[in-house]
Amino acid sequence: MNFLTIESTCDETAAAVVTDDLQVLSSVVASQEDLHEKFNGVVPEIAARAHMERILPVIDEALSRAGLKLDDLDAIAVANQPGLSGSLLVGLSAAKSLALATNKPLIAVNHLHAHIYACQIAAKANVFPCLGFIVSGGHTNLFRCVDPISFEHLGGTIDDAAGEAFDKVATMLGFPYPGGPCISKAAASGDHRAFKFPRTFLNAPDRLQFSFSGLKTAVLYALLGPGNSDFSRLDISDQQKADVAASFEQAVVDCLVGKAFHAIAKTGLGRICVGGGVAANGRLRQQLAERCEKEEIELHIAPVELCTDNAVMGAIAVERYRAGLFEELDLDIVAGLLR
Ligand code: KG4
Ligand code: ZN
Repeated sequence: MNFLTIESTCDETAAAVVTDDLQVLSSVVASQEDLHEKFNGVVPEIAARAHMERILPVIDEALSRAGLKLDDLDAIAVANQPGLSGSLLVGLSAAKSLALATNKPLIAVNHLHAHIYACQIAAKANVFPCLGFIVSGGHTNLFRCVDPISFEHLGGTIDDAAGEAFDKVATMLGFPYPGGPCISKAAASGDHRAFKFPRTFLNAPDRLQFSFSGLKTAVLYALLGPGNSDFSRLDISDQQKADVAASFEQAVVDCLVGKAFHAIAKTGLGRICVGGGVAANGRLRQQLAERCEKEEIELHIAPVELCTDNAVMGAIAVERYRAGLFEELDLDIVAGLLR
């Protein structure tokens, strides 16, 4: 069976064709990074308009690369939550129109669950039950994933997502958006012990929550001192920048790894599956792997190309199809950020 999967939750317009045995027949991602770069973050209205322009060409391209026509599809799947309202509506409207025109079943995909399912696609083996861990630009969440359709939210950030902190600190250091890869690159030649940044909630094992806003402020104070936010006056050497980047990155990684293991202790789960853009971070991948080896926990981290937003991970729709979970054409978006 062939599934068309559509993703437009934030600033990537994506479509893929996947089979029920998780073969990827095509995957197309139109990134909007160039449109948002000058604003140092995603501008929702610009994102929605760009999705409008790109959604049909992206779907056409996915079908043509797969060598299929609409008639060859068995279902249409779309990420309808969570995300930016205007962005979600474009993908959902396209999916509903196609489902109506072709009389194919419509399947709803939860974008966060899909990020975790990327691990199953890559592993080509069952990864459930597991602790699902999403670390992205908009989300930092822990889930108890009983099976591919039963996810229990255990906790998440009470303010910024990890990726958002990377992006904002990158802006402070004068790096372009998205900031994660730049911070990571600068950090490679820095000393992660140079600055003492806070690790919020790390000493509170019962609290499955994250907070990165204090860390952002701590970086700001380290760079400019309290009461000043004029980065045009920032005058530090490349080595100092590298030291700030490395110290910041290590603080985030300590919180992420520490909390994942607080969740492991609380749930007794023996496997962790990690997805989302920040999971592309080398220091995080390495330190999670080391800790998992030490504590004998099985670890799956989505491959880098499936970490950032894409439609392939929407293959979680195959599981919903098998469970008979189809949607009516009045399906709506659920925009709210799940903290
Ligand atoms: O999953 P994603 O594409 O979008 C959301 O659903 O939010 O994640 C994008 C985020 C951005 O904040 C970006 O800075 C971050 O992932 N990111 C990284 C790295 N690569 C991307 N953060 C840290 N290190 C990286 N190597
Ligand atoms: Zn995402």
